[in-house]
Amino acid sequence: MKKTIIVLLIAAVVLSFAACGGGQQGSGLPVIGVAIYKFDDTFMSYTRNAIQSNAAGRAELEVVDSQNAQATQNDQVDAFLSKKISAIAINPVDRTAAATIIDKAQAKKVPVVFFNREPLPEDMAKWDQVYYVGAKAEQSGSMQGEIAYDYWTANSDADKNNDGVIQYIMLKGEPGHQDAELRTQYSIQYLKDNGVQVELLAEDTAMWDRPKAVEKMDAFLAAYGDRIEMVFCNNDDMALGVIESLKNAGYFQGGKYLPVLGVDATAPALEALSQGTLLGTVLNDADNQGKATFDIAYALASASDPSTAGWTITDGKYIWVPYQKVTRDNYTQFQK
Ligand code: GAL
Ligand code: CA
Repeated sequence: MKKTIIVLLIAAVVLSFAACGGGQQGSGLPVIGVAIYKFDDTFMSYTRNAIQSNAAGRAELEVVDSQNAQATQNDQVDAFLSKKISAIAINPVDRTAAATIIDKAQAKKVPVVFFNREPLPEDMAKWDQVYYVGAKAEQSGSMQGEIAYDYWTANSDADKNNDGVIQYIMLKGEPGHQDAELRTQYSIQYLKDNGVQVELLAEDTAMWDRPKAVEKMDAFLAAYGDRIEMVFCNNDDMALGVIESLKNAGYFQGGKYLPVLGVDATAPALEALSQGTLLGTVLNDADNQGKATFDIAYALASASDPSTAGWTITDGKYIWVPYQKVTRDNYTQFQK
């Protein structure tokens, strides 16, 4: 009797595995493979959560961590494509690797949605089943510049050495990333276009990373000290690292202040805004970028027309989610 039960149990387990064979999850829902350049990135974890919550009940997701290695991601893409998968959504480690990914996906007729890291236009043009969901990096740069401009023109004591010029530090995300290059360029361009003179004291990359930003800012403080009048950071994690370094150096108490700007509007950044340590940030809308990424991938996975998925598609392939300025005046609107 016992033996029969055991045999039946084994049979049940074997059958349930068989039902999941071929990449099908057994639910009858389309399967979508999602690769994130690395899980250990604050903004990408928000985007990943948004993709996942939109998928609930509509598709089976396989979400993988590419651990900041393109070779790992290429293997993950191969693994997706070797199964019965209906679409893939890829946040490339290296955006110039998109061409290889597109070629592989096209060979298997699996549509691709890239997000957050924009492939080169010539790669986007390779196949009509390729889309990109992101935000216009220039816009986030200009908005950061606007916040800096408003502060500079409203606070005469911001010009510590009274020379009419902003002496500033620029902390960049990883070199070559469209958001790092264009935020760096457009934030400063906005100031120049509006008649503000600027002088770059130092620029370096902290790779979007908070602990790296603490280190870099410690070094900048040692080198330039009170000459620094403003710090631009390509994202909030780095801005928070800069603030940490400044706090350690006695800033944000007894009237010692330095304006620090970020991008993303993460929860800890909104907290820093409320405390008056962060001057401003720009909402990088993870909820809508994640939703658009899922909606487009889902439409492609279900062989329906992505232009009916509820998003405006530009040039047949691009879904642009707008940025928004976030300052002390409006940050509470963005708190969750
Ligand atoms: C940017 C974001 C950064 C980082 C990066 C990853 O859009 O502002 O914080 O997440 O994407 O590619
Ligand atoms: Ca000055």
